Amino acid sequence: MRIGVLTGGGDVPGLNAAIRAVVKRAEMEYGHSMVGFRNGWRGVVEGEIIPLTREDVRGILPRGGTMLGTARYHPHKNDGGIEGVLSTLEAERVEALVCIGGDGTLKAAHKVAQAGVKVVGIPKTIDNDVEGTDLSIGFHTAINIATEAIDRLHTTAESHNRVMIVEVMGHTVGWIAVNAGMAGGADLIITPEEPFDIEEIARFIRRRHRSHANFSIVVVAEGAEPAEGTGMQFSTQTDDKGRIIAGSIGERLMIELRERTGFDTRLTVLGHVQRGGTPSPTDRILGSRFGIAAVDALSAGTFNVMTAVRGESIVLVPLEEIAGRVKQVPDELVEVARALW
Ligand code: F6P
Repeated sequence: MRIGVLTGGGDVPGLNAAIRAVVKRAEMEYGHSMVGFRNGWRGVVEGEIIPLTREDVRGILPRGGTMLGTARYHPHKNDGGIEGVLSTLEAERVEALVCIGGDGTLKAAHKVAQAGVKVVGIPKTIDNDVEGTDLSIGFHTAINIATEAIDRLHTTAESHNRVMIVEVMGHTVGWIAVNAGMAGGADLIITPEEPFDIEEIARFIRRRHRSHANFSIVVVAEGAEPAEGTGMQFSTQTDDKGRIIAGSIGERLMIELRERTGFDTRLTVLGHVQRGGTPSPTDRILGSRFGIAAVDALSAGTFNVMTAVRGESIVLVPLEEIAGRVKQVPDELVEVARALW
């Protein structure tokens, strides 16, 4: 079989581990020939194709980013996009696709599958919001980076008696905020799942500083918003493409908390640092396991599914069950985090 692989959406550490596993499994176990599409779905539509052999993926395991490049382009949202995918696959004699991506890329994979293409998806996103899988590639590395940042902020917060706001990624979910916040010992965690009351937060900080602490660490996900009628007017700031402008909620919180508590307050926006650099061992292993499972599925004639991890096992989930859905942080985990504030 001739199989194509692509990476779409925001990059994450661990994509190269998945590409390497796909290529090695396809070539060494099944004798398939592999090609890579550059720059996500756009590269498929525009026929940006490169051959991929074992030699080409040598040495990429510890490298962050993606050797194939990526793009935020969805064929089903662009005129002629799906037709473009079909004609490139036919012209290049590509019989099946492995699509590595987050919610947008996997939704596109589902649309392309509905148009008759044999597709297997692999979930990646530092946001960890892909439905149907316990983990997506990149999330583990991101919480390592965010936890280290929170650890480092503790010592400077304590030295200066400051309130430190740490803004992490997560436009619709607070997986990084809750996990890194818990691991880093944050004093408050604010997520998009639960709109916040600014006065309640200010009260919490005032009480904390009165009773036992001289500093506070507040972790906020970039998509967090105040609850209606709680005295703070703010809607998530977005650019002309509808993407969140990093730092906007963090900056607003810094100003509000400074005014409402009187404490010296500073903001750290972690931004794309959370997506950069070398993948953690967990993400390398997860990417490798997903890559192998994807090629095994295609080789066994199982299509239109996504690889997923559930507990200790890698399983296959129908794309139609996960496409367009978002996995939120469960209340139970939020409660555990809150018990530690
Ligand atoms: O979807 C992953 C993500 O990292 C979000 O958390 C963040 O809002 C967004 O990507 C940033 O995207 P861009 O790479 O377009 O700046």
